[in-house]
Amino acid sequence: MAELDEDRSPGHLRLLAERIGRNVNLLSGVTLLLGVLFVFLTVFPEVFQRVFVASAPEQAATDVGPIAVDEGIVNGIHVETGFIVDDNLEVVRGTCTACHSAKLVTQNRADREGWTKMIRWMQKTQKLWDLGDSEALILDYLAKNYAPQKKGRRARLTNIEWYDLTP
Ligand code: HEC
Repeated sequence: MAELDEDRSPGHLRLLAERIGRNVNLLSGVTLLLGVLFVFLTVFPEVFQRVFVASAPEQAATDVGPIAVDEGIVNGIHVETGFIVDDNLEVVRGTCTACHSAKLVTQNRADREGWTKMIRWMQKTQKLWDLGDSEALILDYLAKNYAPQKKGRRARLTNIEWYDLTP
């Protein structure tokens, strides 16, 4: 009996020690991993930003639902925003009214290059995010519907019904 107890006791202790050791290894392993992750994110914050911050607005820009027909479209104008109703209006509305009124957009006119420049300017100075695949769609819409207005003289009038002024 005494022999058995002596035998069992150290064995039991060894088992316990092994188990504790394994848990300590696991714990320090996890701690080490978290430490490395922390150091990595501190040294390369832009990675963290790209993963968690930059993806959010992009998502918002593409998660734009279609405009309901009964939402108010009068004479081809989306009443709520004043935008001309055309293809890609949903993307434009979702993206370009996030920071300012649609008026700022509809009051401006430019060709594709000009609109691209305005977008670049906002990206450089106003924290506008990378528009990704939406950019081409937005430019299609803007360059088509908010193109520069034709300048110069009006077209020559035709089929004029002159008043007869002879007495
Ligand atoms: C991240 C915020 C933000 C988003 C999104 C944004 N803008 Fe802007 N935009 C600004 C700010 C800020 C201004 C400057 C407003 C001011 O001057 O009062 C501005 C100004 C403008 C102007 C006026 C530029 C000028 O020369 O006066 C136009 C046009 C414009 N934005 C178009 C757009 C279009 C088109 C989109 C969609 C692609 C868009 N904006 C999306 C922030 C944004």
